[in-house]
Amino acid sequence: MLLLLLLTNAFVLLPWAGAGRIIGGMVSKVRSRPYMAFLESKNATNIRNCGGFLIRPDAVLSAAHCVDMQGRPRVTVILGAHNISDEECSQQKISVARWFIHPQYSRERFKNDIVLLKLEQNATINEYVKCISIPKKNKHVRVGTKCNVPGWGWTSKEEDRTDVLREVELKVQKEKICQRTFSDYEPQSMICVGDEKRKKAVYKGDSGGPLVCNKKAHGIVSYGCDCNLFPEAFTRISHFAPWIHQQLKMFSLQDTPGSPSSD
Ligand SMILES: *[C@@H]1O[C@H](CO)[C@@H](O)[C@H](O)[C@H]1NC(C)=O
Ligand SMILES: *[C@@H]1O[C@H](CO)[C@@H](O)[C@H](O)[C@H]1NC(C)=O
Repeated sequence: MLLLLLLTNAFVLLPWAGAGRIIGGMVSKVRSRPYMAFLESKNATNIRNCGGFLIRPDAVLSAAHCVDMQGRPRVTVILGAHNISDEECSQQKISVARWFIHPQYSRERFKNDIVLLKLEQNATINEYVKCISIPKKNKHVRVGTKCNVPGWGWTSKEEDRTDVLREVELKVQKEKICQRTFSDYEPQSMICVGDEKRKKAVYKGDSGGPLVCNKKAHGIVSYGCDCNLFPEAFTRISHFAPWIHQQLKMFSLQDTPGSPSSD
């Protein structure tokens, strides 16, 4: 029993907080995920790549751990991309002016792993770049729902990388399954997701990407454990909807010429 508890703790100490990967998925169709953003957070010595998604022409949602870096990182998003190593005409590279990490974010316990990025210029909405909507407060996605997660993360545990966007179908799981695996799992603010057969998963590099269920972004890729591909914990967006709308309102106020700055 004690050993099991120790092991359970070890799971939480070894998550792949960083980037994520799509395992067992397939290449996304060009233009089928127009809200998808490729995120690069960079300080003087390190680069961290993640996913994110456009929810308004001036706002991208991602995981807080993607920008949680020392040494004043610079954050950039690329929208409209399919092959991230090509200079595709559809791509829009936009700097992030500032970002808002959830005030109760916990790096150690992977709680409230959400960040809202304010873009320096509005994205141009076209056939390659579009917003995705988010659920209303407490609009829970049902257990058993099949959802999709796109990402540019690793495609195997052996660090195989992908340049083209891939996606995987994963099922919303019972809360119990994550509660058994992760000691800090919180049902109201997280969604338990995965493929019981352990053939499909998100992985390093996919962090920050959306869990798309019924055409809405219900979750954000957050954490799992290195030892096992099942289950995985996503940030539950519906729980944070009021906070997101409050931040978006502030964005608009800041845009108004002559409005007083809040800081
Ligand atoms: C860049 O960020 C990483 C991760 O937080 C940190 O280990 C490293 O010291 C940072 N580099 C600088 C120059 O601050
Ligand atoms: C940018 O987009 C936001 C949200 O749609 C809008 O309120 C704002 O007016 C836009 N700004 C410019 C300069 O177009």
